[in-house]
Amino acid sequence: QAERAELKARICRLLKEKNAVMVSHYYVHPDLQDLAEETGGIVSDSLEMARFGRDHPAQTLVVSGVRFMGETAKILSPEKTVLMPDLDATCSLDLGCPVEEFSAFCDQHPDRAVVVYANTSAAVKARADWLVTSSCALEIVAALKAAGQKILWAPDRHLGAYIQRETGADMVFWNGACIVHDEFKALELELLKQEHPQAKVLVHPESPAEVVALADAVGSTSAILKAAREMDAAEFIVATDNGMMHKLRTLNPGKTFYEAPTAGNSATCKSCAHCPWMAMNGLADVARVLETGANAIQVDTALIPRARQPIDRMLAFTA
Ligand code: 13P
Ligand code: SF4
Repeated sequence: QAERAELKARICRLLKEKNAVMVSHYYVHPDLQDLAEETGGIVSDSLEMARFGRDHPAQTLVVSGVRFMGETAKILSPEKTVLMPDLDATCSLDLGCPVEEFSAFCDQHPDRAVVVYANTSAAVKARADWLVTSSCALEIVAALKAAGQKILWAPDRHLGAYIQRETGADMVFWNGACIVHDEFKALELELLKQEHPQAKVLVHPESPAEVVALADAVGSTSAILKAAREMDAAEFIVATDNGMMHKLRTLNPGKTFYEAPTAGNSATCKSCAHCPWMAMNGLADVARVLETGANAIQVDTALIPRARQPIDRMLAFTA
């Protein structure tokens, strides 16, 4: 406890000294979420992390999250130093979408608008027409459909299928998945619903279709937070990374939140839904990178102008 308090105080001092600001995702450790907010940064979803990083005047950004979040910040602000607690913090969606194979897939469908999820490498973004996050994917695909466009979607197949069901757009899919959300199980969720019949079910759309079908609200991390605050219910079952529980519980002290079951947690483990890469972010690493300047994100400068186009389009669409 004393060590944590000392590290937090050190980070606060370093952020001031280095004219730096910290941006954290809802899935990282509660200490990193609180610290970001207490020091003038934000804890947010991937869309707002990108916008905040672009708009904040600080010359150094500390991004607590996974690699694509740091890369997006660097693409939007190449002149800034973007530090990450651990450069190996990746994402199964990014790993499962290598640019050579993705480019070949795009080449097979030259008549389609290429829409990629934020959870991808800079090189994949540079091949895209549009970037989306789960906060804005529905609206962007609906607008493309209304403009008569057919869609090539990558990489999350569950999110893509959800968007297709909702919009009726003509879509072809890359076969990727999030290793955390892919594990939520509909049968176990139904059993948990029977135990808590009054509970509302909140689901991130990276989850399988049978789980999404049981939801009272479906959406990004920020949409889940909004639904929990606004829905007139005292209990909720939440199908997303359990890092989300920190904000859900602190902002809704009178409400009760249960983790939705995954394959492993129904019988034995009660907290299996946690991204191993988000978990790599720690206080000691934040202090170290601020002190030493280590772990600065680099993006190939030749890629930046092209990778920036789909991100700018998304940010303008959602402004
Ligand atoms: P959000 O955009 O909803 O924050 O999701 C990012 C992510 O990595 C979900 O697993
Ligand atoms: Fe990627 Fe899933 Fe981790 Fe989000 S929770 S960073 S989608 S592996």
